[in-house]
Amino acid sequence: MIRSVVRGVGASLPQRVMKNAEFESLVDTSDEWIVQRTGITQRYIVSEDETTASLGEAAARAALASANLTPDDIDLIVLATSTPNNTFPATAVEIQNRLGITHGFAFDMQAVCSGFVYAMATVDAHLRSGLARRALVIGSETFSRILDWSDRTTCVLFGDGAGAVVLEAAEGAGAMADRGILASSLRSDGSHRDKLFVDGGPSTTGTVGHLRMEGKEVFKHAVGMITDVVEDVMARGNITAQDIDWFVPHQANKRIIDASARKLGIAPEKVVMTVHLHGNTSAASVPLALETAVSDGRIKAGDLVLLEAMGGGFTWGAVLLRW
Ligand code: ACO
Repeated sequence: MIRSVVRGVGASLPQRVMKNAEFESLVDTSDEWIVQRTGITQRYIVSEDETTASLGEAAARAALASANLTPDDIDLIVLATSTPNNTFPATAVEIQNRLGITHGFAFDMQAVCSGFVYAMATVDAHLRSGLARRALVIGSETFSRILDWSDRTTCVLFGDGAGAVVLEAAEGAGAMADRGILASSLRSDGSHRDKLFVDGGPSTTGTVGHLRMEGKEVFKHAVGMITDVVEDVMARGNITAQDIDWFVPHQANKRIIDASARKLGIAPEKVVMTVHLHGNTSAASVPLALETAVSDGRIKAGDLVLLEAMGGGFTWGAVLLRW
C-alpha cells in the first residue's frame, strides 16, 4: 500500500516582529485585552520586499534541506494561501520558478485557515494515485496586506509567515508500514460566508479588499466543528484521543484551542501552541506549529500527530498521520 510520508519540514517568518503594545497607538486596544481574549503576544509582519511567494520559497527550501533533498526531487507543489502574490498565475507556480524547476506541476489551494489541512489531504490523494511522487505542501500568508488596520476587532489577531513539508509516496513495508498519512476528513459549509470574508475580489469590486469577521459568531461555531471533524478522522484512523501523541491545531485563539482539546479529551501537554508567538497566520499556522514542535524535539519519528483547522467559508478539516 502506498502511504504519503513526511520527509522534512521547514518554516519562514518575516524579519519584523510586532508586539501587542504597538497596536495601542493605532487603535483603542491594550496588550492586556489581546492576551486575555486570544493568547497572542506578538506576530510577524512583512516588509515591502517580502511576499507570500518569498516566504513560501524560504519555507520550501528549509523543508527540502531538512529532508536532504533538492528542488529537482520535487514533482508537485501545492501552496495553501488566501493572499497570493497575484490573482494569477498561481503563486505555487511562481515558487516553482523561484526553486528553478520546470518539471512536474504546481497549483494554489484556497480554503482560508483550513488551506494547509486541505492541501495535505489533496496531495495525499495525488501521491497515492501515482500522479506525483514527491511533493512540497506549503502554507504561506501575508494577511497583514488584507487587514483593515483601523479595525481593532480584526487587526490585532493576524500575522504573516510560511511553513512547508515534503511529502513522499512510500511503499508501506516493514518499519515504514504504519508511517505517513493515515486518514483525512474535510468539510465546508458556505452558508456561513458572511461571518468571515474579504470584502473585495477580481470579479466583484475589482479591488483586493479587507478581511471582515464577526469574531463572536466564528468562535461560537469553531469548537463544535473542530471536534466533529477530529472525531471523524479518529474513527477513520481507528484510534482514540488517548493514542494521540501530538495535537497540532490551527492557531487562531488560545481559548478555542484549549476548549477543543478539553472537549476531545486530549491532555494539555500534548497540545502544540504557537499562537502567542505568531498570531493567526491562516494557512501557515499548522505547518509553522509543526515545524516548531519538530525542531524543538517534541515530535519524533513514530509519533501519532493530529492536525486540524477551521476557517473562512466555513471550511474545516483534520489529518491524522504517523511521523
Ligand atoms: N481591543 C479592545 N477591545 C476590543 C478589541 C480590541 N482589539 N476587539 C474587540 N473589542 C471589544 C469589542 O468591541 C467588545 O466591546 P463591547 O462589549 O463594548 O461591544 C468587547 O471587546 C468584546 O468583544 P467580543 O467580540 O465579544 O470578544 P470575544 O471574547 O468574542 O473575542 C475574538 C473576540 C478574539 C475575535 C474571538 O471572538 C475569536 O477568537 N473569534 C474566532 C476567530 C477565529 O477563530 N477565526 C477563525 C479562523 S480565521 C480565518 O479563517 C481567516
